[in-house]
Formats: sequence, C-alpha cells, structure tokens
Amino acid sequence: MSSKTIIRLDKYLSSQTKLSRSDAVKAIYHHKVTVNGKMASDPAMKVNTETDVITFNGEELSYEEFIYYLLNKPAGVVSATEDKEYKTVCDLVPKDIPVFPIGRLDIDTEGLIVLTNDGKLSHDLTSPKKHVDKKYYAKLDKDVTDEMIKAFAEGFDYGEDKPSLPALLERKCENEAYVTIHEGKFHQVKRMFKTFDREVLYLQRVSFGKLILDGSIATGEYKKIKKEDII
Ligand code: URA
Repeated sequence: MSSKTIIRLDKYLSSQTKLSRSDAVKAIYHHKVTVNGKMASDPAMKVNTETDVITFNGEELSYEEFIYYLLNKPAGVVSATEDKEYKTVCDLVPKDIPVFPIGRLDIDTEGLIVLTNDGKLSHDLTSPKKHVDKKYYAKLDKDVTDEMIKAFAEGFDYGEDKPSLPALLERKCENEAYVTIHEGKFHQVKRMFKTFDREVLYLQRVSFGKLILDGSIATGEYKKIKKEDII
C-alpha cells in the first residue's frame, strides 16, 4: 500500500468535492461526513483512499487519484508551480493536491489553462507528436489581411526549424482575430504575427482540445473538470 493512499479526512474531502480545505473542516464538524458508516468529527483523522467508504451529505464519494482543473488565467500570473517574484497559476487553486499546468501561457496571456497532477496526460498532450487544437483570441496593433489568412493556412517560416503547421486565422474585425494552432512553440502566436509586423496587444486562449472558455468562469476562477472533458 502506498503512503499516498493514507491521507487526512479533510484533505480527502476537499480534493474530491468542490469544498475548500476550511469548508471541508467545517463540514466534518457539522457532521456531514461519515467514514465506514460512522459520523466523523476529526478533520485530521487518517483515511485509506482505497478501502474506506466516505460519504458527504449522505452521498458516497469515489476517490479519484488524478484531478483536473480548468483555470481562466489572469494576466500577471506565471504558468509555473512556484516563482520567487510572481503569483503562479497553482496559487489560484486549492493546494491540497499539488498540481502543475499543462503547457504554458505567457505572463500577459489570459484564458484557459489546465492544471493537473496527471503527469502522463500532461506529457501526452504537450508532446510534439500530439497536435491538440488551441484557439486564441488576439487583438493586434494593425489590421488582419487576407494575405495573412492565406499564409497562416499554408504555414510559413517564423523562426523555428520547420515552418508553422497550417493554422486557421479568422478575422473578427479589422485588428481582432481568432487563431487556431495545432502546436505550441514558445511565444508561437506572437511570433507568427510578428512575422507580418503585427504586435499582439492582448491574447486570450479560448479553447484547448475539447475545452472551451465560456462565460461561466470569471478571470482568476477555476472549475474542476474530468479527464474526458479535455481530449
Ligand atoms: N502564443 C503566445 O505567443 N503566447 C502564449 O501565451 C500562447 C501562445
């Protein structure tokens, strides 16, 4: 049995429900949690994630080892687990189970990023062979031209070893566009636009795989999601 399977009850509860750690403690004090049929009263009680039966508000929880969050990243936050200077994306979600971001968004880029403790999925989704669709909304300092739309569709040299893979550039209005890319090179979107002498004034990731940033999650907020929601 791994030591990971023995954890505190409040940690178990907050990692498997939407409760924060402090709300999990309150729920235990308010007799909303049972362990193996008995009312729990001690948040520090150790439980076995594989064998103990835990209920919250009368409903049995089934323990999931891997957790996945969709975060709407604000600007000014770095895509890392820790940083000496800046707040990180991981500071914005509960800390009960350590998670890390899948891929990166620049510090000034906003929008959809997935945080997880699932190393295999992260590796699979960021591997160069796996082309997960990523869609961005971009506001530029100048107009989007038909030439650019054509060049994005065909692929072009933007300073990498290989030209960009075909990408979809959709004009929203003169200097605003959606761009869907299937790879994720360093500063890729900004560098692609830079090739056409365009500065990106604002960048937001609006989708990643099957995930879409709808209006339900405010900037800086997150929601728990399932692995199947991603890809
Ligand atoms: N491309 C960029 O240039 N920046 C991001 O943050 C993401 C994609």
